[in-house]
Amino acid sequence: MNVAITGPNGLIGSRVIKLLSDEITFIPLSHEDLDIAHKEDVENKLNDIEFDILLHLAAYTNVDNAELEQHKARAINVDGTRYLYDAVKQKGKKMIYISTDYVFDGVNPPFDEESVPNPIGYYGKTKYEGEQVLGNNAMIVRVSYPYHTDVILSGAKSQGKPDIVTRLSQLLKEGKTLPMVTDASITPTHIDDIAEGLNYLIHNFKPEIYHLVGSKSYSPFDVGTMIARYIGAPTDLIKPTTFEEYSKGKAPRPQYSETISKKNRFHKMQALGEVIEYKM
Ligand SMILES: NC(=O)c1ccc[n+]([C@@H]2O[C@H](COP(=O)([O-])OP(=O)(O)OC[C@H]3O[C@@H](n4cnc5c(N)ncnc54)[C@H](OP(=O)(O)O)[C@@H]3O)[C@@H](O)[C@H]2O)c1
Repeated sequence: MNVAITGPNGLIGSRVIKLLSDEITFIPLSHEDLDIAHKEDVENKLNDIEFDILLHLAAYTNVDNAELEQHKARAINVDGTRYLYDAVKQKGKKMIYISTDYVFDGVNPPFDEESVPNPIGYYGKTKYEGEQVLGNNAMIVRVSYPYHTDVILSGAKSQGKPDIVTRLSQLLKEGKTLPMVTDASITPTHIDDIAEGLNYLIHNFKPEIYHLVGSKSYSPFDVGTMIARYIGAPTDLIKPTTFEEYSKGKAPRPQYSETISKKNRFHKMQALGEVIEYKM
């Protein structure tokens, strides 16, 4: 199986390649190789390579900056996805698009594959429009708060955007106090589970929506407390705050982002508490 992959050096892409390279031949399309926001580049590059599936992870992922750089976020997340999809369709190949729980509004959780998206921030809007570009002709895989734990204790440098667990543990190690929200929920997802779930979906392609998300949702306050315990930092560095207070000056985010899957019967997704061996 030959899988062309955009965003191969990002947080998720780098780990997916590392874990699945024994079974899948990846053709990495890094930002240096290809700017997905340029139609001609996309057409030329995809015409030059042979692949069975395009796994599309590249995105404008900065949620707050997306409000300020709307044109850029749209060019990458919507137009870029369209150019890739058109080129893939032209070649008669398949496409998997990685999307996000930020397509939901966080109002009536939980959100499963049949829930109706209603994004409230610009990043979520562009990711949802990216989904809509594909219609029913590609696979959409939504993930939520991807994290890994291997860099925390080893001190190794992670690739791509820093994940929530790495980011919080670095700040806690510096002795910083962290205001963490009590009246909200997030669904952290171990990236290794995303990779294994994708391994199944790549080999069992259907042009449908799937959620690959952790099996439990937590308040950010609980996540912070668990991570502090995990790395041996004082838990009183985690200070309770409200969603309203935390949200001031930031992009709108879904408040209760409990995301679940009704369709994943192929890979058991772990809860953050299981991964870091701390049960809330
Ligand atoms: N991280 C999260 O919290 C999260 C949550 C839910 C869903 N997702 C989705 O998961 C996917 C992967 O995200 P990630 O966390 O791995 O993000 P990431 O670490 O920010 O990686 C995104 C990659 O996209 C590349 N890229 C950006 N603009 C590009 C362009 N114009 N042309 C080609 N490549 C471009 C970036 O390359 P450069 O760095 O060189 O620009 C980067 O390597 C994204 O689709 C994202 O929407 C992420």
